[in-house]
Amino acid sequence: MPSKRAKIVGTGMCVPERVVTNDELAGMMDTTDEWIQQRTGIKERRWITPGQMPADLAGEASLAALERAGLGIEDIDFILLGTLSSQHEFPGTSFFLHERLSAGEIPCIDLRAQCSGFLYALNFADSLIQSGKCRRILVVGCEVHSTGIDPTTRGRDVAVIFGDGAGAVILEANEDDDDPAGILHVRLHAQGKHARRLWIEAPASGEWPCRISKEMIDEGRHFPKMEGKYVFKHAVTRMPEVLTEALAGASIKLDDVSLFLFHQANLRINEYVAGKLEIPDDRLFNNIERYGNCSAASIPMLLAEADREGLITSGHIISMTAFGSGFTWGSAVVRW
Ligand code: COA
Repeated sequence: MPSKRAKIVGTGMCVPERVVTNDELAGMMDTTDEWIQQRTGIKERRWITPGQMPADLAGEASLAALERAGLGIEDIDFILLGTLSSQHEFPGTSFFLHERLSAGEIPCIDLRAQCSGFLYALNFADSLIQSGKCRRILVVGCEVHSTGIDPTTRGRDVAVIFGDGAGAVILEANEDDDDPAGILHVRLHAQGKHARRLWIEAPASGEWPCRISKEMIDEGRHFPKMEGKYVFKHAVTRMPEVLTEALAGASIKLDDVSLFLFHQANLRINEYVAGKLEIPDDRLFNNIERYGNCSAASIPMLLAEADREGLITSGHIISMTAFGSGFTWGSAVVRW
């Protein structure tokens, strides 16, 4: 059987209604709206309200993507969900999404590649479709960071950048030989030697005799820790590198890309990367000022907004690039 190209046929997103401004954070910790905007570009983010679950956000995003594709959950063969903030330690988030979508017995898994999680998931989904094992796959990125951050001055470097949200796409085998739409190339990398530079130390199954103790909680070892400048330096080096590799793999010139979507970790990172590659402003789309860093959800949220705002139309070439904890990084090139 000839291999089939996988194309995106639906996008969707969901963020909680609760808006948390920089000024609201300044009431919880020693920070200012000016510091946050200047260093990160973020003006506000969304946080869940009591009772709202990651699978609720993922569910709304998935239903929106299915509707956009004109499909139902019964048309889907596999659910792949990228997250670093799983609803429960095990089995994760995808199973609760599965329950929420009444997905029958469709297989589902969580995939952990942090802020690069959506691109990693896209790559696996693309391979499953190309191999003929699946025809349609729901690929989701979903994060609830707000319940995991340290909302005090101790945790302010990380607390101000993260937000909650979910994004989803439907990937489908392109069976029309005359339709050039599809995933053209995905390039992924990881380097585990940097894992402790951006991580959550506990709970950890390697902690003996218990995954987490009261002392560890008192020390704040269950909160995310980041060596900000170290991460920044690696991000601005790796993102242009992998973006260029992916374009070369797809045989696409930088000038032929209609829209560049970068992981939304910090607007300054994205401006730096764009400057290095001489990408004009009108071919960049960011939404970090409204949602902060939603890790694995950032890129599918960008896709869903760009799709609805008419920034993406048939024939467009989209370049998507991410960098995150692990370290992981990757880039995908898609023809719409
Ligand atoms: N508000 C006010 N001051 C803050 C602050 C906050 N929210 N967070 C940190 N500071 C302070 C620091 O304590 C430090 O104070 P000091 O000079 O008295 O020691 C000062 O601001 C500078 O801190 P630093 O961490 O060096 O700032 P920075 O310029 O590196 O910016 C980040 C911090 C987090 C914005 C930046 O490092 C970054 O974006 N890193 C990469 C993030 C990323 O890509 N993450 C990966 C994806 S998940």
